[in-house]
Amino acid sequence: MRTSKSFSAALFVASALAHGNITSPPARQPGAAMQQACGADAVSAILSDGTGPLENIPSNGGANCNIFLCKGAQFADNQALVQQFSAGEVVDFAAQLPIPHEGPANVSIIDTATNTVIGDPLIEFDSYADENLATLPPNNTAFSVTMPVDLGGACQVAGECVMQWFWFGTSAQQTYENCVDFVMA
Ligand SMILES: *[C@@H]1O[C@H](CO)[C@@H](O)[C@H](O)[C@H]1NC(C)=O
Ligand SMILES: *[C@@H]1O[C@H](CO)[C@@H](O)[C@H](O)[C@H]1NC(C)=O
Ligand SMILES: *[C@@H]1O[C@H](CO)[C@@H](O)[C@H](O)[C@H]1NC(C)=O
Repeated sequence: MRTSKSFSAALFVASALAHGNITSPPARQPGAAMQQACGADAVSAILSDGTGPLENIPSNGGANCNIFLCKGAQFADNQALVQQFSAGEVVDFAAQLPIPHEGPANVSIIDTATNTVIGDPLIEFDSYADENLATLPPNNTAFSVTMPVDLGGACQVAGECVMQWFWFGTSAQQTYENCVDFVMA
Protein backbone atom coordinates (compact mmCIF):
# COMPACT_ATOMS: atom_id res chain seq x y z
CA MET A 1 0.00 0.00 0.00
CA ARG A 2 2.72 2.37 1.08
CA THR A 3 4.78 1.44 -1.98
CA SER A 4 1.95 2.02 -4.41
CA LYS A 5 1.18 5.39 -2.80
CA SER A 6 4.69 6.69 -3.22
CA PHE A 7 4.75 5.24 -6.73
CA SER A 8 1.72 7.28 -7.75
CA ALA A 9 3.18 10.34 -6.03
CA ALA A 10 6.32 9.87 -8.11
CA LEU A 11 4.24 9.54 -11.26
CA PHE A 12 2.38 12.73 -10.42
CA VAL A 13 5.64 14.61 -9.95
CA ALA A 14 6.99 13.25 -13.23
CA SER A 15 3.94 14.32 -15.20
CA ALA A 16 4.04 17.77 -13.60
CA LEU A 17 7.57 18.31 -14.98
CA ALA A 18 6.50 20.09 -18.11
CA HIS A 19 9.22 21.36 -20.43
CA GLY A 20 7.80 23.51 -23.20
CA ASN A 21 5.66 24.00 -26.28
CA ILE A 22 4.16 26.77 -28.36
CA THR A 23 0.79 28.19 -27.42
CA SER A 24 0.24 30.31 -30.54
CA PRO A 25 -0.32 30.05 -33.49
CA PRO A 26 -2.36 26.84 -32.99
CA ALA A 27 -0.13 23.81 -33.51
CA ARG A 28 -0.85 20.23 -34.56
CA GLN A 29 -2.33 18.00 -31.88
CA PRO A 30 -2.39 14.20 -31.70
CA GLY A 31 -5.60 12.44 -32.77
CA ALA A 32 -7.07 9.37 -34.42
CA ALA A 33 -4.81 9.55 -37.48
CA MET A 34 -1.72 9.77 -35.27
CA GLN A 35 -2.97 6.82 -33.24
CA GLN A 36 -3.34 4.87 -36.50
CA ALA A 37 0.17 5.85 -37.66
CA CYS A 38 2.16 5.79 -34.41
CA GLY A 39 0.12 3.76 -31.94
CA ALA A 40 -1.99 4.58 -28.88
CA ASP A 41 1.04 4.79 -26.55
CA ALA A 42 2.47 7.68 -28.57
CA VAL A 43 -0.81 9.60 -28.38
CA SER A 44 -1.18 8.93 -24.62
CA ALA A 45 2.38 10.15 -23.98
CA ILE A 46 1.57 13.49 -25.60
CA LEU A 47 -1.84 13.78 -23.94
CA SER A 48 -0.29 13.18 -20.51
CA ASP A 49 2.26 15.97 -21.08
CA GLY A 50 1.97 18.15 -24.15
CA THR A 51 5.29 19.82 -23.33
CA GLY A 52 7.50 16.73 -23.12
CA PRO A 53 10.42 15.88 -25.40
CA LEU A 54 10.19 13.70 -28.50
CA GLU A 55 12.50 11.20 -26.81
CA ASN A 56 9.68 10.42 -24.31
CA ILE A 57 7.19 9.50 -27.04
CA PRO A 58 7.18 5.77 -27.84
CA SER A 59 6.79 5.15 -31.57
CA ASN A 60 5.37 1.88 -32.85
CA GLY A 61 7.94 2.06 -35.64
CA GLY A 62 5.19 2.19 -38.28
CA ALA A 63 6.08 3.27 -41.81
CA ASN A 64 3.87 6.36 -41.53
CA CYS A 65 5.13 7.37 -38.10
CA ASN A 66 7.98 9.84 -37.72
CA ILE A 67 8.02 11.30 -34.21
CA PHE A 68 10.81 13.65 -35.37
CA LEU A 69 8.47 15.34 -37.85
CA CYS A 70 5.84 17.38 -36.02
CA LYS A 71 6.07 15.14 -32.93
CA GLY A 72 4.31 12.49 -35.02
CA ALA A 73 1.14 14.62 -35.25
CA GLN A 74 -0.72 14.16 -38.53
CA PHE A 75 -2.31 16.66 -40.89
CA ALA A 76 -5.49 14.54 -41.03
CA ASP A 77 -6.14 15.30 -37.35
CA ASN A 78 -5.57 19.03 -37.78
CA GLN A 79 -7.39 20.16 -40.90
CA ALA A 80 -9.42 22.65 -38.87
CA LEU A 81 -6.24 24.41 -37.68
CA VAL A 82 -4.74 25.41 -41.05
CA GLN A 83 -3.58 29.04 -40.93
CA GLN A 84 -3.47 31.34 -43.93
CA PHE A 85 -0.52 33.70 -44.30
CA SER A 86 0.51 36.16 -46.98
CA ALA A 87 3.96 36.91 -48.40
CA GLY A 88 5.93 39.11 -46.00
CA GLU A 89 3.34 38.74 -43.22
CA VAL A 90 4.67 39.01 -39.67
CA VAL A 91 3.47 36.07 -37.58
CA ASP A 92 3.64 36.27 -33.79
CA PHE A 93 4.57 33.18 -31.80
CA ALA A 94 4.03 32.53 -28.10
CA ALA A 95 5.74 29.68 -26.25
CA GLN A 96 5.72 28.36 -22.70
CA LEU A 97 9.00 27.03 -21.26
CA PRO A 98 8.23 25.79 -17.72
CA ILE A 99 11.48 23.79 -17.61
CA PRO A 100 14.17 25.40 -19.75
CA HIS A 101 17.09 23.41 -21.20
CA GLU A 102 19.78 25.47 -22.90
CA GLY A 103 20.39 24.77 -26.58
CA PRO A 104 19.70 25.94 -30.13
CA ALA A 105 16.21 26.60 -31.46
CA ASN A 106 14.60 27.75 -34.66
CA VAL A 107 11.41 27.98 -36.67
CA SER A 108 11.59 26.71 -40.24
CA ILE A 109 9.19 25.95 -43.06
CA ILE A 110 9.17 22.21 -43.65
CA ASP A 111 7.99 20.33 -46.73
CA THR A 112 6.07 17.57 -44.97
CA ALA A 113 6.29 15.07 -47.87
CA THR A 114 10.09 15.01 -47.72
CA ASN A 115 10.73 16.36 -44.19
CA THR A 116 13.12 18.95 -45.65
CA VAL A 117 13.52 22.63 -44.87
CA ILE A 118 12.30 25.09 -47.50
CA GLY A 119 14.57 28.15 -47.68
CA ASP A 120 16.30 29.60 -44.64
CA PRO A 121 15.07 29.29 -41.07
CA LEU A 122 12.58 32.08 -40.27
CA ILE A 123 14.26 32.64 -36.91
CA GLU A 124 17.25 31.05 -35.17
CA PHE A 125 18.42 31.13 -31.58
CA ASP A 126 22.00 30.01 -30.91
CA SER A 127 21.14 29.75 -27.23
CA TYR A 128 17.52 29.24 -26.19
CA ALA A 129 15.88 28.42 -22.89
CA ASP A 130 19.06 28.82 -20.85
CA GLU A 131 18.24 27.58 -17.34
CA ASN A 132 21.40 29.28 -16.02
CA LEU A 133 19.88 32.73 -16.57
CA ALA A 134 17.89 34.32 -13.75
CA THR A 135 15.14 35.09 -16.27
CA LEU A 136 14.81 34.00 -19.87
CA PRO A 137 15.05 36.74 -22.54
CA PRO A 138 11.50 37.84 -23.45
CA ASN A 139 12.05 36.67 -27.04
CA ASN A 140 12.19 33.03 -25.89
CA THR A 141 8.46 33.03 -25.19
CA ALA A 142 7.26 35.81 -27.51
CA PHE A 143 8.84 36.33 -30.92
CA SER A 144 7.81 37.03 -34.49
CA VAL A 145 8.79 35.61 -37.86
CA THR A 146 8.30 37.13 -41.30
CA MET A 147 6.85 34.90 -44.01
CA PRO A 148 9.07 34.68 -47.11
CA VAL A 149 8.08 36.85 -50.05
CA ASP A 150 8.71 34.09 -52.59
CA LEU A 151 8.26 30.41 -51.79
CA GLY A 152 8.44 29.43 -55.46
CA GLY A 153 4.82 28.27 -55.50
CA ALA A 154 5.26 25.96 -52.52
CA CYS A 155 2.84 25.79 -49.57
CA GLN A 156 -0.34 26.51 -51.55
CA VAL A 157 -2.05 23.29 -50.55
CA ALA A 158 -3.03 22.51 -46.94
CA GLY A 159 -0.86 19.75 -45.49
CA GLU A 160 2.07 20.41 -47.83
CA CYS A 161 3.96 22.71 -45.45
CA VAL A 162 4.26 23.40 -41.75
CA MET A 163 6.14 26.00 -39.74
CA GLN A 164 8.07 23.85 -37.30
CA TRP A 165 9.28 25.16 -33.95
CA PHE A 166 12.35 23.13 -33.07
CA TRP A 167 14.36 23.25 -29.85
CA PHE A 168 17.16 20.96 -28.71
CA GLY A 169 18.34 20.98 -25.08
CA THR A 170 22.04 20.24 -25.48
CA SER A 171 22.89 18.79 -22.05
CA ALA A 172 19.41 17.36 -21.57
CA GLN A 173 19.72 15.73 -25.03
CA GLN A 174 16.02 16.41 -25.51
CA THR A 175 14.22 17.59 -28.63
CA TYR A 176 11.02 19.62 -28.71
CA GLU A 177 8.82 20.28 -31.73
CA ASN A 178 5.50 21.79 -32.64
CA CYS A 179 4.08 22.27 -36.13
CA VAL A 180 1.76 24.96 -37.44
CA ASP A 181 -0.14 23.91 -40.59
CA PHE A 182 -0.48 26.78 -43.05
CA VAL A 183 -1.07 27.79 -46.64
CA MET A 184 0.19 30.91 -48.37
CA ALA A 185 -2.65 33.16 -49.50
C1 LIG B 1 1.18 22.20 -24.73
O1 LIG B 1 1.14 21.48 -23.51
C2 LIG B 1 -0.10 21.59 -22.83
C3 LIG B 1 0.06 20.90 -21.48
O2 LIG B 1 0.25 19.52 -21.63
C4 LIG B 1 -1.19 20.98 -23.70
O3 LIG B 1 -2.44 21.16 -23.07
C5 LIG B 1 -1.22 21.66 -25.06
O4 LIG B 1 -2.13 21.01 -25.91
C6 LIG B 1 0.17 21.62 -25.70
N1 LIG B 1 0.13 22.37 -26.94
C7 LIG B 1 0.74 21.99 -28.04
C8 LIG B 1 0.61 22.89 -29.22
O5 LIG B 1 1.41 20.98 -28.13
C1 LIG C 1 17.02 23.91 -36.17
O1 LIG C 1 17.64 23.55 -34.95
C2 LIG C 1 17.89 22.17 -34.80
C3 LIG C 1 18.51 21.99 -33.41
O2 LIG C 1 19.74 22.63 -33.38
C4 LIG C 1 18.77 21.64 -35.88
O3 LIG C 1 18.91 20.24 -35.78
C5 LIG C 1 18.17 21.98 -37.22
O4 LIG C 1 19.07 21.61 -38.22
C6 LIG C 1 17.89 23.46 -37.30
N1 LIG C 1 17.21 23.73 -38.55
C7 LIG C 1 17.69 24.58 -39.42
C8 LIG C 1 16.88 24.73 -40.66
O5 LIG C 1 18.70 25.23 -39.22
C1 LIG D 1 16.83 37.19 -28.19
O1 LIG D 1 17.14 38.12 -27.16
C2 LIG D 1 18.51 38.01 -26.75
C3 LIG D 1 18.67 38.90 -25.53
O2 LIG D 1 18.22 40.17 -25.80
C4 LIG D 1 19.41 38.41 -27.91
O3 LIG D 1 20.76 38.30 -27.53
C5 LIG D 1 19.15 37.44 -29.09
O4 LIG D 1 19.90 37.86 -30.21
C6 LIG D 1 17.67 37.44 -29.44
N1 LIG D 1 17.48 36.36 -30.41
C7 LIG D 1 16.70 36.47 -31.48
C8 LIG D 1 16.63 35.30 -32.38
O5 LIG D 1 16.07 37.48 -31.72
